[in-house]
Parts: sequence; C-alpha cells; structure tokens
Amino acid sequence: MRSKVMYLALLGMALSLALAPMAFSENAGFSKFVEAKSTICFPLELTFKRPSGVVATKLPAVTFSHGQHATLACADCHHMWDGKGPVESCNSDGCHDVMDSRQDTMSYFKAYHSKDAAYSCLGCHMKMNQERKEHGKEVLKLSPCSNNICHVAQK
Ligand code: HEC
Ligand code: HEC
Repeated sequence: MRSKVMYLALLGMALSLALAPMAFSENAGFSKFVEAKSTICFPLELTFKRPSGVVATKLPAVTFSHGQHATLACADCHHMWDGKGPVESCNSDGCHDVMDSRQDTMSYFKAYHSKDAAYSCLGCHMKMNQERKEHGKEVLKLSPCSNNICHVAQK
C-alpha cells in the first residue's frame, strides 16, 4: 500500500517535470528560429455536414480545401473576421443561420450560393469564370448542380 503511494507520488513528480518546459514554452510547435507573434489553426480540407433544419437536398456533400484557395486572402471569404479573434463558422448565431429559406440573404444556403456576393462559393466562381471567358481561358465547371466542382457526383 505504502509503496504504491510512493510510486504514484514519484510518477506525478516525473510527469510535472516532463511537462514543465511545454507549459512554459511560448513557442510550442515551432522551430527555435521563429518567434510566433500570433497563431491560428484551421482545417486544411473539410467536408460540410449539413446542419439540422436546413432545406433538404440530395446533392452530393461538398468538400472544401483551404489549400486550393491559398492565393486568396482569408477575408475574401471570412468577411466578418477581424483578423485577430477566432474564425467563426458561416452559420454561427446571428450570421447565415436561417435554415428554412433559400432566398434570405442570411440563409445557410445563400452563404454558399449567393450570386451577388463574391464571398460565396458560387458568387466568386461565377465572377472568376466571367473574367476567364473574357480572356479565353478555361472555366470552372459550375453546372449541373448534381455534378460540378463543389457537389461532386459519387461514382
Ligand atoms: C475561399 C474561401 C476561404 C478562404 C480564402 C479561407 N477560408 Fe477558412 N473557411 C472557409 C470555409 C467555407 C470554411 C468552413 C465554413 C464553416 O465552418 O461554416 C472555413 C473554415 C475555417 C475555419 C474553421 C471555422 C470553424 O468552423 O471552426 C478556420 C479557423 C478558418 N477557416 C481560417 C481561415 C484562415 C486563417 C484563412 C486565411 C489564411 C482562411 N480561412 C481562408 C473558406 C475560406
Ligand atoms: C473569393 C473567391 C472564392 C470563393 C469565395 C470560393 N472559391 Fe473556390 N476557387 C477559387 C479560386 C481562385 C480557385 C482556383 C481556381 C484554379 O486553380 O483554377 C477555386 C477553386 C475551387 C475548387 C477546385 C476547382 C478545380 O479546379 O477542380 C473547388 C472544388 C472549389 N473552389 C470549391 C469552393 C467551395 C466549396 C467554396 C465555398 C465554400 C469556394 N470554392 C469558395 C475562388 C473562390
């Protein structure tokens, strides 16, 4: 019994010693050649999970890659982000949280499909295609909805 308590106490001491440098290191995770002033963590690739209550659709789920959009500025999409605090989801409370509509500017649907706003997937891609057409370049495949660059049909 006594030796067990001793053992646990020793283990605890060893652990706190091992963890101490981590807890006090302000540069955790980076090389010793950089001093991080601020950091942010984001999913490089994600799949959208449709929130409950959203207008039903049978279209294939959408995968989004931050990597494919690395030439853009964060605020080109995260248009309400102040550049400092946490980045919120498009459908955070008070943002695109209207689920039962496809017309409302603040609907979940419009966040991704507004043709008027360059923040939305469709709005930006349509604008890009317009410019590309004018320059005789290849355009992104935006239709049909059931099989385009965003909603990719499953084979
Ligand atoms: C082309 C558009 C686009 C650009 C550019 C972009 N993002 Fe995103 N980002 C998204 C989308 C879409 C999501 C998923 C939206 C959601 O969570 O509702 C997302 C999600 C995120 C999340 C996770 C949010 C959550 O739900 O927890 C973070 C963090 C994030 N982005 C940070 C960044 C940072 C930092 C940059 C710039 C370096 C950036 N993004 C550039 C579109 C973009
Ligand atoms: C502000 C502009 C902008 C927004 C908003 C945007 N994109 Fe894009 N998207 C781009 C650009 C630029 C490319 C790169 C095109 C290229 O490389 O030819 C791209 C490429 C893509 C591609 C790859 C196309 C291919 O070549 O196969 C996919 C998929 C895609 N976007 C999905 C999305 C989704 C999903 C959203 C919304 C969640 C989104 N994008 C929002 C600008 C945008």
